[in-house]
Amino acid sequence: MILVFGKTGQVARELARACPEAVFLGRAEADLCDPAGCAAHIRALRPSAVINAAAYTAVDRAEAEEDLAQVVNGAAPGAMARACAELDVPFLHVSTDYVFDGSGVRPWAPGDAVHPVNAYGRSKLAGERAIAQAGGRWAVLRTSWVFSAHGANFVKTMLRLSESRDALSVVADQIGGPTPARGIAQALVQMA
Ligand SMILES: NC(=O)c1ccc[n+]([C@@H]2O[C@H](COP(=O)([O-])OP(=O)(O)OC[C@H]3O[C@@H](n4cnc5c(N)ncnc54)[C@H](OP(=O)(O)O)[C@@H]3O)[C@@H](O)[C@H]2O)c1
Repeated sequence: MILVFGKTGQVARELARACPEAVFLGRAEADLCDPAGCAAHIRALRPSAVINAAAYTAVDRAEAEEDLAQVVNGAAPGAMARACAELDVPFLHVSTDYVFDGSGVRPWAPGDAVHPVNAYGRSKLAGERAIAQAGGRWAVLRTSWVFSAHGANFVKTMLRLSESRDALSVVADQIGGPTPARGIAQALVQMA
């Protein structure tokens, strides 16, 4: 049985399509503000793999809530990874290009030096490091610009604005890889 943390997010909803037989824990069942509680679910359910699709994703708000972001994005995945390592259960986690600083002109490679420049990026990097320190079997997928039919994302914003405007002004100095949540979910299930 695959255990998924997250139920309502873009990636979690696509995981539910890709793997309906998985067990999904939403905020009501497993609040990532309680890392020990999340780990306890893993020990109680003893799944064959764990996927963490939940995260504090409010990039701008994280500047004012860095402590909360650190717990949800750092301590909680760390506690999940330690419980998985104890049970020898593979742990799969989703991270972000915000662990990098945005400099340079070529696509990031996994081994590039990390250097987050905002609170969200620092919190996600804390999660990556806590997972690596847990040992066990784990993988972190860094993605960017996630879009899907659900939730708020760049593609849906552009589609909505295109219905009411003839021209759009959009920042021209950001380069990213728009990534379908469905593709991330399929990759996670295959890896699990
Ligand atoms: N969206 C992007 O463009 C993007 C880019 C790069 C990386 N990522 C990463 O990809 C992963 C999935 O992102 P997404 O776009 O699917 O995110 P999303 O749509 O914003 O969903 C986030 C999910 O996390 C849950 N969550 C937040 N705080 C929680 C808490 N304290 N306890 C339990 N659940 C909590 C939310 O639940 P509620 O509905 O209850 O709030 C929601 O289900 C995340 O790790 C994110 O950092 C996303």
